[in-house]
Amino acid sequence: MELRILCIGDVVGRPGRQVLREALPVLTKQHSLDCIITNAENSTDGAGLSAAHYQKVVAAGSHLITLGDHIYRRRDIIQVMETADNIVKPANLPTQAPGKEFAIHRTESGVGIAVISVLGRLFMKLQANCPFAAADRVIAAIPSDVKIIVVDFHAEATSEKIAMGWHLDGRASIVFGTHTHVPTADERVLPKRTAYISDLGMTGPYDSVIGRDRNRVVGTFISGVPSPFDVATNDTRLCGIIATVESTTGRASAIQRIRYDANPATQR
Ligand SMILES: [Fe+2]
Ligand SMILES: [Fe+2]
Repeated sequence: MELRILCIGDVVGRPGRQVLREALPVLTKQHSLDCIITNAENSTDGAGLSAAHYQKVVAAGSHLITLGDHIYRRRDIIQVMETADNIVKPANLPTQAPGKEFAIHRTESGVGIAVISVLGRLFMKLQANCPFAAADRVIAAIPSDVKIIVVDFHAEATSEKIAMGWHLDGRASIVFGTHTHVPTADERVLPKRTAYISDLGMTGPYDSVIGRDRNRVVGTFISGVPSPFDVATNDTRLCGIIATVESTTGRASAIQRIRYDANPATQR
């Protein structure tokens, strides 16, 4: 059986949450989706995910949730990380970091889809353990009846992400990049049938600098004086990919980029 899996890039603030709620019923119907995986690391005011917003991201239709370097910005997410079975921490954080290293969604027909997350090390402030070794370790720990494995590589450098794609080719069904908030045009199915893209892009306001008020960010680049960056509000889009994966082998046959523009009437 072929499954269609939607992977959604970093949800940013209220605009991101709103377009998620608006888009998921439409995309689910349009593309006959079987599973939706959402990177929600910027959902609460642009940094982190609160427990309340976790509930909203799930209610919007997400089956599995990944985060990133902003994972613990909201204190009340820690209990969610420890108890919920549909959200993961980056597996290369220290072992004492709260959260689970993989999560599994079962479709209505009983097919298991596992998600894992790892952080990059190039140009990242948060220094994590080796993402390649962590991915190997967690993939080996996933129950063998779960053939579909999706990896969110939350990283800055395209070179590190592409290297991860090759490292996991034939062992992961999908490897997608997040964190840079800019969609890349390099989606492809690798030779051993892993669907790959360097970055899904952000789900949030594009009239911005990667989700933040563009005047503030541009001003700060020019003046060198740090200032608070508010989440922007306009030109909100959902960005991600849909991959087609065979349920018995876990191998991918197709990957396509998805962009959904929010109805302007519903934007603030
Ligand atoms: Fe992000
Ligand atoms: Fe990030």
